[in-house]
Amino acid sequence: MAFVVTENCIKCKFTDCVDVCPVDCFHEGPNFLVIDPDECIDCTLCEPECPANAIFAEDELPEGQEKFAELNAELSKNWPSITEVKSPLDGADEWNGKENKIDLLEQ
Ligand code: SF4
Ligand code: F3S
Repeated sequence: MAFVVTENCIKCKFTDCVDVCPVDCFHEGPNFLVIDPDECIDCTLCEPECPANAIFAEDELPEGQEKFAELNAELSKNWPSITEVKSPLDGADEWNGKENKIDLLEQ
């Protein structure tokens, strides 16, 4: 199993999650972060850190978010590692909680 970053991270990217990961398995794209499932050790530390509540265990993904498990696996192979917190994206607070952000995902 692994933990998965889901839709509500898109256009927010608060990055609090990367600060606590003991194995540095977050990877960064233009407006979204993903977790490499081959590196994640299921420590659970990142889940409560996300202000957007975007992180879930793979077997507890909310309805409609199942596709993000595959997306995390795919995109983590292409995107660079991120290990330090940075400022959220402009407008992150406004985008937090908006639905159907998947169409805005930039690769
Ligand atoms: Fe990293 Fe632990 Fe979160 Fe996995 S569950 S991404 S190891 S902080
Ligand atoms: Fe995204 Fe939440 Fe991390 S918004 S960058 S998963 S803290």
